[in-house]
Amino acid sequence: MTSSGTNHAPGPASMEGESSASAAWELLLPAASAPARGRGRALQSALREAVRSGRLAAGTRLPASRELAADLGVSRGLVTEAYEQLTAESYLRSGRGAGTWVSGTVRPAARTVRDLSPRAPGARVDFRPGTPDLALFPRSAWAAAHRTVLDRLPHSALGYPDPRGLPELRVALASLLARRRGVVADPERVVVCSGVAQATTLLGFVLRGRGATTVGTEDPGSPEHASLFASTGLTTIGLPLDDEGLAVGPLVRSGVRAVVTTPAHQFPTGIAYSADRRAALLDWARATSGVIMEDDYDGDFRYDRAPVGALQGLDPEHVVYTGSVSKSLAPGLRLGWLIAPASMTDEIVARKRTMDLGNPSVDQAVLADFVAGGAYDRQLRRCQRAYRERRDAMTEALATHFPGTEVSGISAGLHIIARLPERFGPQDELLRRAAAADIALRPLSDCAATGADRADSGDGTDDGSVRLVLGYAHLAPTAVEAGVRLLAEAVRRGRAGRA
Ligand SMILES: Cc1ncc(COP(=O)(O)O)c(C=O)c1O
Repeated sequence: MTSSGTNHAPGPASMEGESSASAAWELLLPAASAPARGRGRALQSALREAVRSGRLAAGTRLPASRELAADLGVSRGLVTEAYEQLTAESYLRSGRGAGTWVSGTVRPAARTVRDLSPRAPGARVDFRPGTPDLALFPRSAWAAAHRTVLDRLPHSALGYPDPRGLPELRVALASLLARRRGVVADPERVVVCSGVAQATTLLGFVLRGRGATTVGTEDPGSPEHASLFASTGLTTIGLPLDDEGLAVGPLVRSGVRAVVTTPAHQFPTGIAYSADRRAALLDWARATSGVIMEDDYDGDFRYDRAPVGALQGLDPEHVVYTGSVSKSLAPGLRLGWLIAPASMTDEIVARKRTMDLGNPSVDQAVLADFVAGGAYDRQLRRCQRAYRERRDAMTEALATHFPGTEVSGISAGLHIIARLPERFGPQDELLRRAAAADIALRPLSDCAATGADRADSGDGTDDGSVRLVLGYAHLAPTAVEAGVRLLAEAVRRGRAGRA
């Protein structure tokens, strides 16, 4: 580009009179080098596209035809023709003797911004587990707490926070978790973080820094555990479960010195670890100087069994306790906590500091207010009532539409495991049918460790039955019933088709 002077792209908001003919006309170069016969048309469509896409903003002045022709190495007639044609189409306008401008008549097409959230709207029925009912988020109470907090917080509280979290939140969480979950919680060792996900990553980096290379995960388990640890440079090995929890023999044989567990309500099977198994795991940790990460992701929701306290309460020096508001309030808040053993606290806090300098302080203050003022307990009670009803709706709908189905893991949490009789399978076929009916499902086999990362154990489908991890908490009871009915119809159509 020569004659147009400076050579930067037209700004998106360039205003008439402010913009000059100094646009990045390189965007027309490919058209200018099109074969001679189609060059005029190519030039016109490149200009048109540049206006439509917003790359040439309304008000941008185009170079004089002679200058542009020289810059592009085409005949002036082609440029004049292109200007005339686009003026006729209202993309451009020309002032008498004052040059040619991009008109404001054609609105640039809205740019498509992709939504890569795991639950982008789509499926007609979504039974995948992991999300609470976001409609139960206590908007008014949260907004009121927000107002209170903003009125109360001194300006200094808006500075960089303690990377462990606001003291008031750590105190509130320590007391909440001690009371509700039996956790031994010293506020000095509470680290507020962005969910269990960040707690996992923090621990992963610290373990890696100490020389660990491998972490044990439950198999089946949450695929997130493996991928989060992998992001810190650790490999994971899936360790099998039995009906009391993580099997100790394979854990010992694996040689790992750290393992992640979900003892209150194993994800996904729903087992509550037995007292013996808890004791055996802690013995293993003491004997090997091992670390157990306890992911208490939905420990607050139980329906017809006595509360099972946190493993951490039995041995806070060998357990890193983690939890979040993702099930009780909303995952989008990205607020969680970690309670570190004394021997790891400094390293974990140092990691948290270098990772993000701490969580947003206003959100923390709101949560502190919410917990300390009792609104958090009220929210848990409200959710507990709603989810029990939905759990019942799910088990009833399965009994009606998929007779013979065995359900397990139903006394707590936000999902159940449904083992459908063989006649509803095979699994691939059922999943295809569900997808065709726009029903999103997660089979248990999705939660199995894969290939070389696997100690032993099956994926739960080898007996020919189909096992599904069915989330129900985010669906109203009527939606649960309707969804299961739709699934049954889809499966029935498939079987009829096969017959
Ligand atoms: C096993 C398990 N742990 C933890 C979480 C929550 O992670 P976070 O607290 O980062 O939202 C989930 C979410 O679905 C989960 O399934």
